[in-house]
Amino acid sequence: GKQGRSSVVVEWKKVTRLCHTKPLLTVNGKYPGPTIAVHEGENVVIKVTNSIAKNTTIHWHGIKQFRTGWADGPSYITQCPIKGGSSYTYNFTVVNQRGTLLWHAHHSWQRASVYGAFIIYPRMPFPFSAPIHAQLHIIFGEWWNVDADIMASEMMKYGSGPNFSDAYTINGFPGPLYPCSIKDTFSYTVEHGKTYMLRIINAALSEELFFAISNHTLTVVEVDATYTKPFTTSAIMLAPGQTTNVLLTANQIPNSSATFVMAARPYRTSVFPFDNSTTIAFLRYKMKNTSLYVPSDLSVHNLPVMENTEFATQFSHNLRSLASPQFPCNVPKQIDKRVIVTISLNLQDCPEHKICKGLNNKSFYASMNNQSFVRPSISLLESYYYKKKLLNPTKYSLDFPQKPPREFDYTGVDSLKENMNTEFGTRVLELAYDTDLEIVFQGTSFLNVENHPIHVHGHNFFVVGQGFGNYDVRKDTESYNLVDPPERNTVGVPTGGWAAIRFKADNPGVWFVHCHLEEHTSWGLAMAFIVKDGPTESKCLLPPPKDFPSC
Ligand code: C2O
Repeated sequence: GKQGRSSVVVEWKKVTRLCHTKPLLTVNGKYPGPTIAVHEGENVVIKVTNSIAKNTTIHWHGIKQFRTGWADGPSYITQCPIKGGSSYTYNFTVVNQRGTLLWHAHHSWQRASVYGAFIIYPRMPFPFSAPIHAQLHIIFGEWWNVDADIMASEMMKYGSGPNFSDAYTINGFPGPLYPCSIKDTFSYTVEHGKTYMLRIINAALSEELFFAISNHTLTVVEVDATYTKPFTTSAIMLAPGQTTNVLLTANQIPNSSATFVMAARPYRTSVFPFDNSTTIAFLRYKMKNTSLYVPSDLSVHNLPVMENTEFATQFSHNLRSLASPQFPCNVPKQIDKRVIVTISLNLQDCPEHKICKGLNNKSFYASMNNQSFVRPSISLLESYYYKKKLLNPTKYSLDFPQKPPREFDYTGVDSLKENMNTEFGTRVLELAYDTDLEIVFQGTSFLNVENHPIHVHGHNFFVVGQGFGNYDVRKDTESYNLVDPPERNTVGVPTGGWAAIRFKADNPGVWFVHCHLEEHTSWGLAMAFIVKDGPTESKCLLPPPKDFPSC
């Protein structure tokens, strides 16, 4: 097929927001980074040059990377980082995928500013009839007045949590509700009567967000680059790592004040102090004399309030795969294996290598099935690949705990004690090629403050079930949706609840699974799985590229 070549540079750039100027890590000096737009079936070749004095990597979030795990990007999982002064060429083909995704740095906390839209233009026409006048992307992010990488390393050293960001942003701009930001407001002009496609991306580090536009409804047509049955809603919700395409018809009467407010704010079920601020952008109707009118009322009445779990639950319930003859839903009806994975955040006694101030001399950790994931010193994928060739000792073991620490009882005080015994390790789950897998992610009750958006690399999955409380295999499997479950790459596991996903493990390589809230990944809320080579050459992992970085 087609080939698209490009070349980008990771570099520092002085950027000002909220009246703070700081050197910001960027791609090509842009914040957010450049949009990468490709065509379905295209071979994408992107040379990334690292011009900063520290390591970096780039991840193409949601791209399946069939046989090309070497181009996936998470540091120490599929590659060693690109060192300062060197470059690496990511080379992959976009097979049978179309829609809106994102790319972002996948090393330390660099994705705080190193991110952008990744758009795959479809080979076939959109499966909905509305004529699209124009497309735009809306990317949510967060701005810190401090350096995010430094904040991340201090957080790890002190065993604490990170400080809240100073602003949420839309396309890099905080908007008029933040100090010193009226000029830093994203604005888009529409024509009355026309329909637009908004490609909405949550690239924030730490919050699921609601989004709405005053006086307008949104028709959801796609999530995570897979088509959905269209449905119209007053607002949408998306977790970090998730994307949503909506259709917007500019059907309001244009008059001299035809500026409408687009707004995003967090959904959270928190017992801790939180940041409930709102980022705003403007939707303007094209007029003869378009003035830069700022509406006096900046509220968006259709934007759900914080902690609106009813809206959140209903919204995810409304998401259904298109499941048409042209875009069928290939959810495994039978499974070969079910793995229950508990998700837990906890506090442990301060280890020797940390200086735990506050928190009663304790440090934050997070775990899956009681294992707090430790990144190895060389990438798992290399370690796996060269082990086959008997060239290198492995840096992992194949005994990821396949049972939660205690069967389905994570309520009450006892779970607290249990959660104190987290083990640290790099144990992975090994799967035969073509395994029809089900994973049930079960939230536990200790430090139960928010949903966990769990992201799986290398595969899309189907969300066949979701619920509150403890998963019950006898009862809950009966209510699974095996007809038109949404297909995604990131699922918000409800706080104090569970989500069951299914997929065919048909992509050979090593794949990361982690919470897309950045602090949780730093604390170890992650695992990895190996999919072994298939029976024929075309189902085997390709060899690494020549310029593959070494550790
Ligand atoms: Cu969007 Cu592992 O990341």
